[in-house]
Amino acid sequence: MTGVALPRPFRLIALDTVDSTNDEAKRLAAAGAADGTVVWARRQTAGRGRRGRRWVSEEGNLYCSVLVRPEYPASEAAQATFVAAIAAADAVAAALPPDAYVTCKWPNDVLVEGRKVAGILLESAAAAGEALDWQVVGLGINLAHFPADAEFPATSLHAEGAPDATEPDLLESFCSRFQAWRVTWRRVGFAAVRRAWLGRAHGLGQPVTVRLERETLGGVFAALDEGGALVLRQDGGERRITAGDVFPAAD
Ligand code: BTN
Repeated sequence: MTGVALPRPFRLIALDTVDSTNDEAKRLAAAGAADGTVVWARRQTAGRGRRGRRWVSEEGNLYCSVLVRPEYPASEAAQATFVAAIAAADAVAAALPPDAYVTCKWPNDVLVEGRKVAGILLESAAAAGEALDWQVVGLGINLAHFPADAEFPATSLHAEGAPDATEPDLLESFCSRFQAWRVTWRRVGFAAVRRAWLGRAHGLGQPVTVRLERETLGGVFAALDEGGALVLRQDGGERRITAGDVFPAAD
């Protein structure tokens, strides 16, 4: 008995310990699991963050992954990251006092008062042509713990005024919001998701430093384009960034 009631079409697999809920969801995908399979674990022994980083996963925080069987092409796969980020931000905001300042940091972190409270790791596998076989949306939300030494300041729901927030509450809240945003995305289009994300955007119009795989760029976070790329305004013009880490520009 997990005490978790997920809406349709979700089907919960609740584990005590796993290497990574994303890896378990990928194994289930390979074994033919259906859209909406949710893997939730109390702790992870090999939790992963974006760009190969470790995601410390001791008991008390939320670690979950949703398996999606996409009906959209690979060219739209990155948009799912914003769908998940908005759903996670809405779930975080609903758990906190009404005056909490909840924002989304490009591409898919959730911040409270400018500190990271949740991260998303999206992984996909291509099928034939432009089709996708699966996407796994991995979400970690800090409830009880947060890393003190992260390269971006972090926090937790308990530290930000929601001492009673629990993993089952956040899991249910995220899944129902993720499903609602998924439906809006497919029915109305990415413009609706983009608008909601921009309503919570962190650092829009501000000078930022963008760290890419092989270079670091400075400029102004000018916009989010129609496909979800960060538009960086520089002296010489504009650059569209599709993957990287964003930090406030150093003075
Ligand atoms: C990031 O901000 O770098 C993304 C962090 C994603 C962490 C979650 S926890 C559940 C799922 N399983 C993992 O191994 N990673 C994601």
